[in-house]
Amino acid sequence: MNHLQDLVYLVSAVLFVFGIRRLGSPATARSGNALAALGMLLAVVVTLLDRSIVSWSQLGLAILLGSLLGTLLARTVKMTDMPQLVGVFNGLGGGASALVAMAEFFRASSIHVGSGVSMGLGVLVGGVTLSGSFVAFGKLQGFVTGRPVVWPLQKTLNLLLFLGGLMLLVLMVLLGSGGAAGDISTTYLLGLVAISLLLGVFLVLPIGGADMPVVISLLNSYSGLAAAAAGFVLGNMLLIIAGALVGASGLILTQLMCRAMNRSLVNVAFGAFGGGDDTGASGQERKPVRQTTGEEAALLLAFSQSVIIVPGYGLAVAQAQHEVRKLTDQLRERGVQVRFAIHPVAGRMPGHMNVLLAEADISYDLLLDLEDANPEFERTDVVVVVGANDVVNPLAREPRSPIAGMPILDVDKARHVIVVKRSLSPGFAGLDNPLFYLENTHMLFLDAKEAMGTLAREVKEV
Ligand code: TAP
Repeated sequence: MNHLQDLVYLVSAVLFVFGIRRLGSPATARSGNALAALGMLLAVVVTLLDRSIVSWSQLGLAILLGSLLGTLLARTVKMTDMPQLVGVFNGLGGGASALVAMAEFFRASSIHVGSGVSMGLGVLVGGVTLSGSFVAFGKLQGFVTGRPVVWPLQKTLNLLLFLGGLMLLVLMVLLGSGGAAGDISTTYLLGLVAISLLLGVFLVLPIGGADMPVVISLLNSYSGLAAAAAGFVLGNMLLIIAGALVGASGLILTQLMCRAMNRSLVNVAFGAFGGGDDTGASGQERKPVRQTTGEEAALLLAFSQSVIIVPGYGLAVAQAQHEVRKLTDQLRERGVQVRFAIHPVAGRMPGHMNVLLAEADISYDLLLDLEDANPEFERTDVVVVVGANDVVNPLAREPRSPIAGMPILDVDKARHVIVVKRSLSPGFAGLDNPLFYLENTHMLFLDAKEAMGTLAREVKEV
């Protein structure tokens, strides 16, 4: 049975790797997801066949409850709330790994140094992931303030807590390896649990709400490391591989997000940026803008040759993807070339815009990424910015602005820009946007869904 199990674990690991590989493009992501899910199913089935199950009824109940809750959440949580959901999942994953490590600690009659270190790391990283993820969830959901919460000597205190946690881990292993996992060793373990939970809260509280998606991606990586540690504790090869894959891919994703915002990870973790206030926008004198109507904008679009649509967070909030599709169809029927420019951090999570456009069956061939889109704008008649703000903010070109150096879509270089949003409110970074006041910008102050519906109807009637 062990050979069969190893073989199936190997197949699962290969399926995970190919699954992740296919997640790299929207065209193959669906099958990638299915491959990885198949890998997980195989792993679960073969594990159930092999292990002596303590209680089938408890296990069945847990699977039933988990599946019901998972299905309910997947069906009801809005796309825009996905980062919070992922945050909760990461937290629970970290917590589960910490519990596995603790259960093994209490089960073992004596602890070897190797497994003791794995247990300690599983508890430390799992605990940080659990409490940190729930603070991140609270910040995004508005239960905890989105502003950075700071206090004196914060970093020193965090460092001391971390060192204290490591010391407890070492003591726990040394005592545990000396004989039975006795009372003192248990006290150290419980101390480690408390420190890891505190550390998670203290590490995430000072980070601004605007950086939470990056933090969630980083915590996702931690949850993988905690799972890998649990894999070492249990001697389960597949858990080690899966944990390492999650750890590495979470870290790569974190780095990609930081690069797309021109921030370093250290700056995200300690920069206290993006507190959710609207510095730079409020209190600032409003300059005049050129306002347009649906009818006027439709005429501009209908008589152009090339159009690029830039979707952003507002499109997701308004769920305007199907109306965008209708507008695209109307324009293409008239022979207008329509394409979409996708910024890597448009929306609130990586790939947010790709998923929305795919939902409306907009062909991947029409999508341009940042590098390919930027040279196209100066050759484009009309750019329609739908509920995007920071990703088209020319302030990023100013060396002294808070978003200096963030790669943006150079939409201001197009002949005309139509900006669809409800007001002059700032975007996620809380900054005013000089694009709105340019000569070639036409502001269409409407909800994205209503605006796209109106434009599609008006273009049809031209
Ligand atoms: P934002 O800069 O957040 O701007 C969205 C705009 O949509 C707002 O200005 C808002 O203006 C408008 N809006 C909201 N609801 C609307 C509706 N129903 N109809 C029409 N417009 C609506 O969005 P973005 O340009 O997509 O930029 C994303 C931001 O999130 C960036 O700052 C990025 O760094 C940050 N972020 C993203 C990620 C990832 S991975 N995507 C991760 C971390 C941080 P009104 O209120 O005036 O309508």
